[in-house]
Parts: sequence; C-alpha cells; structure tokens
Amino acid sequence: MTPEQARLLLSDRGREAVALASSLDLSPAARIRAAEAVRPLGDVGPLALEQALLRVRARAKHPRGDVLWWTPEALEQASSHEVASSRADRFDRPVLDLGCSVGGDLLTLPAGSTGVDLDEARLLLAQENARVLGRRVSLVRADVRTLTVPLHADVFADPARRSGGRRTFDPRAYSPPLDLLLGLPVRSLGVKVAPGIDHEALPASLEVEVVSLRGDVKEAVLWGGAARRGARRTATLLPGPHVLVDDDAPVPRVAPPGAWLMEPDGAVVRAHLVAQVARDVDGWLLDATIAYVAADAPVAVPWGRWYRVLEVLPFSLKGLKERLRAHDAGPLVVKKRGTAVEPEVLRRQLKLTGSREVTVVLTRSAGRQVALVVEPTPSA
Ligand SMILES: C[S@@+](CC[C@H](N)C(=O)[O-])C[C@H]1O[C@@H](n2cnc3c(N)ncnc32)[C@H](O)[C@@H]1O
Repeated sequence: MTPEQARLLLSDRGREAVALASSLDLSPAARIRAAEAVRPLGDVGPLALEQALLRVRARAKHPRGDVLWWTPEALEQASSHEVASSRADRFDRPVLDLGCSVGGDLLTLPAGSTGVDLDEARLLLAQENARVLGRRVSLVRADVRTLTVPLHADVFADPARRSGGRRTFDPRAYSPPLDLLLGLPVRSLGVKVAPGIDHEALPASLEVEVVSLRGDVKEAVLWGGAARRGARRTATLLPGPHVLVDDDAPVPRVAPPGAWLMEPDGAVVRAHLVAQVARDVDGWLLDATIAYVAADAPVAVPWGRWYRVLEVLPFSLKGLKERLRAHDAGPLVVKKRGTAVEPEVLRRQLKLTGSREVTVVLTRSAGRQVALVVEPTPSA
C-alpha cells in the first residue's frame, strides 16, 4: 500500500467507504456483488473492500481486528495479540520497536514506546491504530540499518522474514538483519524469529523462547540483557502462560511403550525440553531421538496431550489392517515421528471401512518401526 492510498483510506471519504464495504455480504460467494457495490465509489472502492475483507480475517489475530487498519502483508506478518501481549510483560519501560509495521507488537508495549519503520503507509495506519486502541506511542520513519539506537535502550524487533515475496529461513536475510539487531548495545532486547531457528548458531548469552498458542507453534523470541529470564531455553504455552525452562533434568531412559503416551506441545519439542517433561511425568522415551514420552500414568501437566495406549504392534501393513479392523476403524488419525510413512498413502493402503475414528501413532521403539493404537484424552 502506498502512503497516498493509506491517506485516502484514513480520510472521511475512505472511512465512509470502509463502513459501506463492511456492511456488505463478504462471503466468497458474494464477492463479485460486493465488488460491484463499491464500484461507484471510484478509486477508494477497491481499497475499502480490501480493508473490509482484511478486517474479517484480522479478528483471528486481534480481538479488535475488525476496527483496526491493515495492509494484506502487514496482517500476515502481525503477531497474534495474545502472543504479543504475553511477550510485552517482559518489558518494564518504554521500548523501541524496530520494524513496528501497523503495531501488532508496538501497541501492546509499555506506554510511551516508540515504533520505527521504513514503510510510511504502515506508520500512518499504526498511528490510527494507536488512536483506536487508546495507546500512547511515538512513530518514526527511519531505516533501522542506519539508525543510531540510544545506548541502554530497551529494544524489541520483529524483522521481516520475507524477501522477494518468499519466506526466508536465513537470519542474515531478515530485514533488518539479525546480526545487526543482536549487536545493538542495549539494556534489554527481544527479537522475534522463526521457530525453527538453529539454536546452536546463536550466542549463548541469549535465551531462546519458543511460543505456542493453543498447541500451534507461533514463533521463537531471542531475549538478551535485562529481558532475559535466566534460562537458555524456554517453552511458553499460551494461553496460560505455562512456562517450561531448561534445567539439569537427567537424560530420560529409553524403554518400550507403557500404558500411556504423551505427544509434547510443539513449543516443548522445538525448545528441546522433552527431558524436562519426561522427568515431570516420571516417564521415558521410546527412542532417544524421538519426542514421545511414555509413562505408566497420565500425570496432569500442561506440556502436551496424553494418549491411552491400547495396543502396540510391530509395523506391518497386514498386521495393522487386521488389528484396525478389529477396532472397527474407519477414519484414521495418524500421528507420526521418526518414520517415513505418509499418512495419506497408509490410509489408502489400509482401505478401512469401519465406523469408529481410531488414532494410531507410528514411531520407533528399540530401533524398530512400531504402530501404537491409542485413545486420545481431551487436549491439555
Ligand atoms: C514482520 S513486520 C513487523 C510486524 C509487527 N511486529 C506486528 O506485529 O505488526 C517487519 C517490519 O519491519 C519493517 N522493516 C524491514 N526492514 C526495515 C528497516 N531496515 N528499517 C525499518 N523498518 C524495516 C517492515 O517495513 C515491516 O513493517
């Protein structure tokens, strides 16, 4: 979006057009009719319709997403409000948000925080979003690569992870670049990064926090200085928050499956904290490299979902088919770790016609492929 388009949207004419577009039937089936309805509005019509559609989607990210202002890319990049708010608790003073976009993070940070961005249109929308949410922030248009960041500032950054329309996994290609952000001489630092970032390649002075929301891994945040809480690796499960940190948990023992199996939350796995969970539930692993935790009883912890183990079979198509038929299996839920089996291919091969939804876990135990027929408990 250009700054001119942002100004047009935020003008009286733009606001009226967005109000009108928002009152239309925006379901996919009615999309052509909606486009017809905004055509008489001229240049602002398509922008208003786009904004109305973005606001519908934005409710999934922000409870007030339907009254905030977005660009398509800014909405896609915006942090979920629940995640941003939880993270903002680490800061106790105004923060410099380097690459603030339309304010997904900035508008959860302490009052008096400052957002910096190169993109003028996003800054105009951020200003308006601050007004809508009643947040006191300053906004500055600048290139972070040449900005002089005050010594001992508190800094947050959520660098863009796309280049040329593609998602980038190389932190050097982040914009602004990760190296630059990690080199800032600040009092406290938080940098949002891809959850799959290579921990080993990061300085040991940083805490790596992996965050999930309702079981979906959202991101990792690198914390340094006063914002670091002490641990080297943290898994934060939202809502809650439920926070698991690395400590000197013993290496879990490896043994055959027990009566219960836990699939740890993705944040726990990505933060390499499965040993902590195994200790907490008095459990063990089926394989030293695979993140399923076995136990005799389902200890109530928030770190994952428990499955009651009904049967353990060596993996073979014929054996599995026979046993699943005995369970009257129809729809098959497949969980897998440490096996190349493709669930879709397996379902086709099994040709199950029963009436019950059955869950199988495909994994390795003692170096052999196994299939566990399990019964899920409600998610934690
Ligand atoms: C991933 S978005 C930030 C999203 C934001 N945290 C949110 O939740 O809404 C990254 C932002 O960094 C800005 N940006 C990228 N490179 C920059 C640079 N060198 N200087 C200033 N801003 C930059 C982009 O314009 C974009 O708005």
